[in-house]
Amino acid sequence: MHAAWCTAPAMRMGRPLPLCRVLPQVHRRCAIVTQAAATVSQNVIAGPQHAVEVRRHAENSNITQEAVQSLEACLDGGESIKALRRFNRLLANLPADSWEPRLRAVMAELAYNLESFNPAFTAVLLKVQSTIGHSDYVARDLALKHLIQPLAGEYGMHNGQEQAKTHRELFSEFYADLLKEPLEEVLAVSPRPTASVQLFQRMMHDILTGGQTTDPIDQACYAMGYNLAIEYLADYEKTWMLDSFRSLNKRVLHAQNRPLMEWLFLEVHAEGEAEHAAIGHAAVVGFVPAQKQEVLRRAMMDHDRDFAVFYNILADMLQ
Ligand SMILES: [Fe+2]
Ligand SMILES: [Fe+2]
Repeated sequence: MHAAWCTAPAMRMGRPLPLCRVLPQVHRRCAIVTQAAATVSQNVIAGPQHAVEVRRHAENSNITQEAVQSLEACLDGGESIKALRRFNRLLANLPADSWEPRLRAVMAELAYNLESFNPAFTAVLLKVQSTIGHSDYVARDLALKHLIQPLAGEYGMHNGQEQAKTHRELFSEFYADLLKEPLEEVLAVSPRPTASVQLFQRMMHDILTGGQTTDPIDQACYAMGYNLAIEYLADYEKTWMLDSFRSLNKRVLHAQNRPLMEWLFLEVHAEGEAEHAAIGHAAVVGFVPAQKQEVLRRAMMDHDRDFAVFYNILADMLQ
């Protein structure tokens, strides 16, 4: 059973967050596939009897921007922010004589982790799309119109602009400049780094099962709440990461005659995540009924817990 979400005050007091994952990885993957298939078939057989449900979704008063922001404030006191602070303190203060091997291992994790958010975003879209026949036509369409944008941005696509480099290309350039070796080398040696794979599996399990909910609207609300947490925490993550690399560059890389030249990956993300969070807000306030606030909160706390575990492992690797 999925344990109840934690409140921010509880997290501040350092109480352990409940873990609900008891299935071995292999069974988890089966569960994901079965659940996804069940949702699709449920929606396919949905007929006119669902008209009332759809009308109810259209007439519901939605969650407000203020309510969404107060949910996000909960993340400010959460475990992920603590883990991100710890990681960035260590990154900015890496010792001059041993920064390279420590950072290489972390960068291998980040190569996988940063890409793994793309399937997570795709799963969020899928869950909203899968409310076809259950949710209001216009609300669904508008939510998806918002949610597609950060995902498209990962592939260099922005409205009204030529397609630019993908974020994978930018990461590859950043990696090669930082460690003076091609990204392909570390990908060949470490294609599935442990901590990133674990976080990826947890994210996909949670989003695709809607945090153990069965109703398509609940599942979509859960996915959108999860997306809110991803984007909100990514704003801190990427802003602090840029600052930490600036410090490391100034203190260590310059002194070793190898200053970082490829800043675009870090800069694009430090600038872009606040906008992604705003896009997530717009999607949520146009789709999520006010009474589903607790579903959003649970999703956000689920991501907060697992993202914190990931960044604490990365911090351990830098220590
Ligand atoms: Fe990105
Ligand atoms: Fe983002």
